[in-house]
Amino acid sequence: MTVIPILDLQGVSWIAGGRAILHDISFSVSPGEFISIIGPSGCGKSSLLKIIVRLIDATSGIIHYQGREINDIDIIQLRRQIGLILQDSHMFDGTVRDNLTYGSRLQKKDLDEAKMLRLLSDVHLPPEILEQDAGKLSGGERQRVAIVRMLMNEPAILLLDEITSALDLSNALMVEGLIKQLQASTGITILMVSHDFEQAKRIGGTAMFMVNGTIIETGKASDLFSHPQHESTARFLAGGIV
Ligand SMILES: Nc1ncnc2c1ncn2[C@@H]1O[C@H](COP(=O)(O)OP(=O)(O)OP(=O)(O)O)[C@@H](O)[C@H]1O
Ligand SMILES: [Mg+2]
Repeated sequence: MTVIPILDLQGVSWIAGGRAILHDISFSVSPGEFISIIGPSGCGKSSLLKIIVRLIDATSGIIHYQGREINDIDIIQLRRQIGLILQDSHMFDGTVRDNLTYGSRLQKKDLDEAKMLRLLSDVHLPPEILEQDAGKLSGGERQRVAIVRMLMNEPAILLLDEITSALDLSNALMVEGLIKQLQASTGITILMVSHDFEQAKRIGGTAMFMVNGTIIETGKASDLFSHPQHESTARFLAGGIV
């Protein structure tokens, strides 16, 4: 039986400022898959995620989400289905509750309080945090609230852009563990961008290695970063210039 990809990129390129930032990127993501996209700073990882949620438009190539071309999908619907979480998530003024209920107020839908409390507990935050000023959260708390805020929309895909890079190691490991648990328990599809291949190895799943706007290697995270096939990957793993 063939699984229809939840996300499919064919020949995606992006030219900006007269430069090819992304070049001929093609890959498919199966529902429930966990993919890490690893590569050096400036190789185009964030740009790739932005193209998937149409924060920027590809110069050429085609992207399908659940079999539909993303340009044919209402952009608000697309961004509810595919949630992007950034390195240092922005909180709106107000309490954590204000932040978590923003989506339902916007959509004029009843808030599912039980779901909100369940999600908070999934990311190991106590219910009392709801009344706290969102501007005063620690980095680790803010990222966990951002994850809950995104999950309130019940997206089918999460795009995570270096979500642990602003955290110290213990908080980074905690958030990383939560992501792994969340994926195991819900089967949500995740594309995680990181410059940290150790993180990809710890989480498992599929890994892609990207250099200069191109994916040069794809494989199981444990294999790819233990037995790289490409010279650039090996140089990156050794901490050298790619
Ligand atoms: N709007 C833009 N116009 C022109 N160039 C851009 C634009 N956005 C990004 N770039 C360039 O594209 C390249 C890739 O940027 P991108 O942010 O995607 O890299 P990255 O892999 O996410 O890097 P990092 O690991 O540092 O976050 C960089 O050289 C950047 O300067
Ligand atoms: Mg980036």
